[in-house]
Amino acid sequence: MRLNVNLGQNSYEILIQKGCLNQASLEFNLNRKVLIVSDSGIPAHYIETIAKQCENYVVEIIPQGENNKNIEQFITLCNVLIDNNFTRTDAIIGLGGGVVGDLAGFVAASYMRGIDFYNIPTTLLSQIDSSVGGKTAINMQQVKNIIGAFYQPEKVLIDPNVLTTLSERQKTSGIAEAIKMAATSNADFFNYLMEQDAWQNIEKVIAESLKIKISVVEQDEKEAGLRQVLNFGHTIGHAIEANSSGELYHGECIALGMLYFSGEQVQEKLKIVLHKYGLPTEIALNPDLIYQSILHDKKADGDQITIVSVPQIGSFELNKISIADLKTLLMNV
Ligand SMILES: NC(=O)c1ccc[n+]([C@@H]2O[C@H](COP(=O)([O-])OP(=O)(O)OC[C@H]3O[C@@H](n4cnc5c(N)ncnc54)[C@H](O)[C@@H]3O)[C@@H](O)[C@H]2O)c1
Repeated sequence: MRLNVNLGQNSYEILIQKGCLNQASLEFNLNRKVLIVSDSGIPAHYIETIAKQCENYVVEIIPQGENNKNIEQFITLCNVLIDNNFTRTDAIIGLGGGVVGDLAGFVAASYMRGIDFYNIPTTLLSQIDSSVGGKTAINMQQVKNIIGAFYQPEKVLIDPNVLTTLSERQKTSGIAEAIKMAATSNADFFNYLMEQDAWQNIEKVIAESLKIKISVVEQDEKEAGLRQVLNFGHTIGHAIEANSSGELYHGECIALGMLYFSGEQVQEKLKIVLHKYGLPTEIALNPDLIYQSILHDKKADGDQITIVSVPQIGSFELNKISIADLKTLLMNV
């Protein structure tokens, strides 16, 4: 299946197809110098599959894990590009999860003011969410995604076969983002996730999630308003993530974060579906720590913060509340 992201000059295509890793040379322009960025947790045969389709390539493998989405790895990758005389007509391929995609994409956005970037997401989370939409970033001073750029890829290649090597917990974590999209924007898709087994037809789950993401991004590429809907669960979720010392995965934190600021009936349905896929629904929060983390998070806009809530499955509201009211709310959850 092919999906299009229509953003004028920045438009691109997404191919979702089992086995398409072997077709990279048909989908990408690889007749130039290519930097393949991956991480130490990605099985080597995926990297070899891509490398053997390139004429002239360099592979750089960063250590796996969120705390490597940092300025040191950014500098390392820039040095590799400079040392190998990459020019503006060369390209970068990100082969990995959201960490690799966000970092490699930001390097692509920055090097010589932008060189072509191809994304091959290999986690469920990156296939249904982070590889599309052009948000690239690194973390700094423990603030997530604080340095970054909007930079759309040239093309995205999604091979669901690569999910076979992903841990069960990582796969489950990705489902949380599909639930997020469905809860805010598509009640039928939410019911599908609730009633069917997402793993029986993961291509459908990827495609339905991406259709929601594409529609939002096409209307609001740079997050002037509507795109904030994609942050459902993220205000509290990021704060939980920041305080979990790496013990909880991104999707697990988002799952927990979605349970705040929504109506009781919505919470009940969310709990059923989260529980069904083995995602957490309860955590002992320290409201003070969460509040402090939210203040650090770039989502705080002056003394106000935009909260995404879901009044009914398939719909959403964006509400600005003051930081002081947020504290009161947190004390009462
Ligand atoms: N840019 C965006 O719009 C956006 C949206 C959502 C999340 N994100 C970012 O995405 C990141 C999280 O991404 P993630 O959940 O993909 O985590 P990740 O990139 O850290 O990958 C998780 C782990 O899985 C391993 N892995 C990846 N693919 C594998 C495979 N096919 N087989 C075996 N192991 C594999 C990796 O080595 C890593 O250890 C966060 O930094 C988050 O901020 C960005």
